Amino acid sequence: VPAVKRFGPYLLDPVNQTLNGPAGRIELSPKTFGVLQHLVGNRGRLLRHEELLAAVWPNTFVQPEILKTHIRMLRKALGDDAGAPRFIETRARLGYRFIAEVTSDAEAGAGGPAAGVAAATTPGLPGRAAQLARLHAALAATDAGDRRVAFVTGEAGAGKTALLDTFAEEAGATRDLWLGCGRGRARSGAEPLQPLLEILGGWCRSGAGAAVRQMLALHAPSCRGLIATALGPAGPERRRSSAEAPAGTARAVREIADLLEAMAELRPVLLLLDDLHGMDEATLALVSTLARRPGRRRLMIVAAARPDAGADAPQPLRRLMLDLLVHRLAEELPLPPLAAPDIAAWLAAEAGGHAAPEDLAAFLLTHSDGNPMLAGALLDHLVEAAMVQRDPRLGWRLAARPTGADAREARRVQQMLDLEIEELDPAERQVLEAASIAGRSFCTWSVYTMLDLAPAMAEDLCRNLCRRDLLREVGQRNILPDGTASPRFAFVHGLFRDILHQRQAAARRAVWHRCLGERAEANWGPRAHVIAAELAYRFREGGDWERAILYSRHAAREALDSSGVDAALALLELAMEHCRHLPEADRSCTEAALRQEIARLARQGREAGGRAVPRGPDGAPAH
Ligand SMILES: Nc1ncnc2c1ncn2[C@@H]1O[C@H](COP(=O)(O)OP(=O)(O)OP(=O)(O)O)[C@@H](O)[C@H]1O
Ligand SMILES: [Mg+2]
Repeated sequence: VPAVKRFGPYLLDPVNQTLNGPAGRIELSPKTFGVLQHLVGNRGRLLRHEELLAAVWPNTFVQPEILKTHIRMLRKALGDDAGAPRFIETRARLGYRFIAEVTSDAEAGAGGPAAGVAAATTPGLPGRAAQLARLHAALAATDAGDRRVAFVTGEAGAGKTALLDTFAEEAGATRDLWLGCGRGRARSGAEPLQPLLEILGGWCRSGAGAAVRQMLALHAPSCRGLIATALGPAGPERRRSSAEAPAGTARAVREIADLLEAMAELRPVLLLLDDLHGMDEATLALVSTLARRPGRRRLMIVAAARPDAGADAPQPLRRLMLDLLVHRLAEELPLPPLAAPDIAAWLAAEAGGHAAPEDLAAFLLTHSDGNPMLAGALLDHLVEAAMVQRDPRLGWRLAARPTGADAREARRVQQMLDLEIEELDPAERQVLEAASIAGRSFCTWSVYTMLDLAPAMAEDLCRNLCRRDLLREVGQRNILPDGTASPRFAFVHGLFRDILHQRQAAARRAVWHRCLGERAEANWGPRAHVIAAELAYRFREGGDWERAILYSRHAAREALDSSGVDAALALLELAMEHCRHLPEADRSCTEAALRQEIARLARQGREAGGRAVPRGPDGAPAH
């Protein structure tokens, strides 16, 4: 009989598959437990990714990425810190090592020292039961050959990554799947299809590697080199000459789609793509291709993205989402803010199942508006300031009752996030603030227009910020109507942009947006309709509803040519929605005109038989 293992204050019982800590039983999913058991059983020895995967997932072919999720869960359960580990040490690119002393303790018995205390973390994710259920239902539907695509959307810190991780864990624990997790990169220089190449590379190194390599050779011969490059020693940072990419890319997309479809014959394929907004166009084209190809396949894609209906979201992503959604080829799972019971459940899970004082939950809810990331940051802060204590036996205890006056504390949390901003010199900070209005990516024209700077000066400041790793230069330059070229930059971290954006007063933001809209409108003169979508966004954010409606209508006309009737209709509906902000006198007239336009387009759409979207060769929307 395998002995009970003791390490730190924990007892691992391999017979009953339980882990007990000072506060009693700690619930782990079977796979997470399996990872821990294997680590503990091989204390002191470096366990390579492949070895751990083979031990814990003998029949499921997952990629090494999935280990990260389980290690994170374990660290959370054991209160371990990745930076200064007491239990689990990460060896970059290699694997993990269990570093704590382990003693065998045959006498300790199954219950452990504190058996009987309430169960700790419940599986699942607070407040996300409905979304998880929908994802599981969609996965079940793929058994019958239904291709499924789900977009998980939500603001920064809404819990998109957490939802994907949880779903990956639950799905991987219960089913035999090809499970692949990819992440979009904030940095420039990613190869086309990088996330997919990494997933395929991971599968090649998994237990089923030989079979995958065979199928790869058969269905995606031109991708083998790419995968080797993606996994090469220089890793994802390595760049190829950009001239090489485009010709091969369309073919690579087709081949990878073929390969995934062939793999889906063996077992369902589940791709989890996090931060889709940071992925290259070829990856988006692949999603599009897989969603639209005819033929039943056991294939599911869950992609997380910030919604950003604004003009600054990458155009191809907006197009892909809108297009798949209106054609019912995808569903959207927006993540709402957490409600009071969700926060209570989360706090209980963090404290061995003990309910938290209501004051604490209410305080976190009020000051985070239900954003999980902010709620977490707030809680950390209260703990650090010793206002709140987490007692292993009694759960959360409030040393001092946070009140409305403690809103200051909330602000300090915000300030922690702002710290990096404060360290900048004022000129750079101004540039970043202006840039955050312009968008996640922006051209220097916007910045010098807002700040009234010389163009060269704005460009220099942006380059300085690139050196500080806050911005990065994006390839293409914007050509202004007068022929001058304006370089484009983007925020390396989207969250950083969001904080900068949010920390400016709403009124000030509106003024900036309106200013940018007006200057752009003047600049483009009679050709302003060319940038109608952006102008519609600027004036909407700026509260100039009359112009927001005008440019939404222009944008609808543009969309009709490029993306089809449905996209155009969506824009007109948006314009209709804006009408309620118009003064009473203008309202009915504008509404009537819009209604006519909508009716005409809808008729046109019916006549076209609903196939109004022009398609590229891969079935991707033509750009
Ligand atoms: N439902 C939830 N309950 C409790 N905590 C949560 C929940 N969802 C997310 N969190 C926590 O909130 C933090 C932010 O979540 P996450 O990283 O998933 O957000 P995100 O939407 O992916 O953000 P980003 O847009 O920056 O990628 C994480 O620490 C996560 O563990
Ligand atoms: Mg995320």
